[in-house]
Order: sequence, then C-alpha cells, then structure tokens
Amino acid sequence: MPIQAPIIDAVRATASSTGVRARIDLSALRHNLARVHDFCPDAKVMAVIKANAYGHGLCEVATALSAADAFAVARIEEASALRDAGCDKPLLLLEGVHDDLALAQARDLDLACVVHAPHQLVLFEQANQAMPLWLKVDTGMHRLGFAPRDVKDALSRLRAITDDIVLMSHFACADESGSEATRHQLQQFDSVTDTLTYPTSLANSAGIVAWPDAHRDWVRPGIMLYGASPLLDISADMLDLQPVMELHSELIAIHDLQAGDTVGYGAAYVCDRVQRIGVVAAGYADGYPRHAPSGTPVWVAGQRAPLVGRVSMDMITVDLSDISDADIGSSAVLWGRDLPVDEIAQCAGTIAYDLLCGVTARVQYEFVD
Ligand SMILES: Cc1ncc(COP(=O)(O)O)c(C=O)c1O
Repeated sequence: MPIQAPIIDAVRATASSTGVRARIDLSALRHNLARVHDFCPDAKVMAVIKANAYGHGLCEVATALSAADAFAVARIEEASALRDAGCDKPLLLLEGVHDDLALAQARDLDLACVVHAPHQLVLFEQANQAMPLWLKVDTGMHRLGFAPRDVKDALSRLRAITDDIVLMSHFACADESGSEATRHQLQQFDSVTDTLTYPTSLANSAGIVAWPDAHRDWVRPGIMLYGASPLLDISADMLDLQPVMELHSELIAIHDLQAGDTVGYGAAYVCDRVQRIGVVAAGYADGYPRHAPSGTPVWVAGQRAPLVGRVSMDMITVDLSDISDADIGSSAVLWGRDLPVDEIAQCAGTIAYDLLCGVTARVQYEFVD
C-alpha cells in the first residue's frame, strides 16, 4: 500500500518564506540502496530509518525504499507513524520495549522487537505471545545485549515464546579499516552462534562496505543509504554513494568591508583587506553546526566561499571576495552534491549523522524523483 506523507510535510511544502530548504533526492536514495545490494547480493536488507530517516523524512524515505525487505526504527512513535501512513513492511524496534504498555503497542503495530536485556525477557515471558524477536548479543560494544555467556539461557527462554528469532549484534569500530576490535566482535559472535540455525545479522553500513564476513542473513544499512561515507578513510564518492540531501538557502545581504572591520557576534572575524562579505539566511536554528569554524566551505553561485565569523541563529557570513557572480538571491548550498556533508562535518568536528539528524523543524522539505 502506498505510504501517505504526514500532513506536516504538506504544510511545509506550501510555505514559501526565505530560509533553508532541504531538497531530498529520492532517486539518489534508491541508487544507494542498489549499492547495498551490490555489496551483499545474498543478504536481506533492513533499512535503518530511525530519527526521521536520519533527517530525510520518515514516510517519504520508507516509500522510496520499497525495495528494502524491512525497516528499523528506534521509537514506537516512529513505527506508529509508518503504520498510520500505510507501511506494511516488517518493522524492527531497535531498542525493544521496556514495559507492558509498550509491548502491547508493539503487538498492535505488528512490530518485531530487539531483546537485549533480562527485564525484556521477563516482559515477553509474562505476555507469552508469539512475535518476531531479535536477540541481541553484546560482542564488545557494551551498550545493549546479552553477554555471550548468557545467550544460551536467553535463547532457550525466548524459544518457549516464539520460533521467529534472529540473532544480532552491533559493531563499535567497523568504520576503521582492519580494526582488531571488529575482528574480535566477529569472533565472539561466531563462537556463540556457530552451532545455532537461526538467521543472523551484524552489519551496519561500515560492515556492509568493509567487512564482507559480516554480511550474514540480514544487513542493516543506515548512513550509506543517505549518501554519506560509513568509513573514516574512504569518501562517499569513491564508494559510488550519492548524496540524498541538499541543504540550501540564499544570500540576503552583501557588504564591502575595509581591512580592520569585524564581522558577526563577538567581532570574531576581522577583515585583513578589503573584503566582500555575504550574509546567508541559514544558522544553527536550521541545524547548521554552531561550531563550524571560519574557512568551512559554502557553495555560493557555483563556487566555494569560506565561512567567516561565528554561526548565528539564523545567519552565517561568507567571504565573496573571489566570487564576482554572487548577488542578493544567489543560492548558497550548505551541503549536498557539490559539498559533501562528510566534509562539512569534519570542518565542524562532528560526523555526518549528527548534521543530517540535526536539521530542524523549520526547514522546508522538497522531495524530488
Ligand atoms: C543496531 C543498529 N544497526 C544498524 C544501524 C545503522 O548504522 P549506520 O548508520 O552506521 O549504517 C544502527 C545505527 O545507529 C544501529 O543502531
């Protein structure tokens, strides 16, 4: 059944004031899913679309990714929004449920649940109703999951409730090529699951791209679907991943300043010569990183313009001295095809996940195919 976009997106699409817009390229999203299939043709794909599909629009992304076998979310509200919109794919709740009410909701929504801790086992035992369960093994990340020594017991208790079980774990360091920690996690997982016949799942995006031995029955790609690189040392472009989000705004003022003039809050930037400074209608209230330093590139009128001075709530300032074409109304791309989000994240001392998930509610979304 086709998925209906939530009403809020329709409202956003009709608003037309100046400000930041997120252009979501759904064909790039599908291309990236095809890349997942290229990397692991034999695995089933559970697309990770939690956190509003990493800031890209939950229901629109789910609709575009109809070739995925299942979706993973973090919160019941996300699963509920997908069901309300008509999504009938298998949905996995990555942190599972923590009380009876949540368990009843999960059952009503026909969700699969991760079981990662003893209190969840007790909940499912008390409810005693068959549903798909993913038993999480803590192979070294020490965040969620049963220690390898406790898996046998947890599994025999789950077996009394359901036959529909997947064994899973999650990597801590798969983004580092050749990481010893990942090798150790793989070996821990195999030592627990080798003699069992249940389907297994290990790989996030980094596991898909860099750890073929981790592909197993189900893969769980997130960031690579959105066109950012899951690896520290290889760019998205080199992996043939296409950026899905372009975050853009426009120039709303231009000033010709003298050497010694300062720009923005704290007078943090001082012009060292005559400089042409542009003001872009985008700031940290849109999700642009507050800590992006001077020099972070912005794509203005088809060229890179360096950010100058502090990022403020609704505006950033850029040096247009070398961009003669720039004028009021010229487009300013904060990240997208011409400016990888990974590069902006690196400038700001963070990761692409953080920037993509951090796009705020006032940004207008436009979905293109
Ligand atoms: C359990 C689990 N699997 C898969 C993913 C997807 O990871 P990535 O976005 O690095 O592909 C996540 C994301 O946090 C996760 O928590």
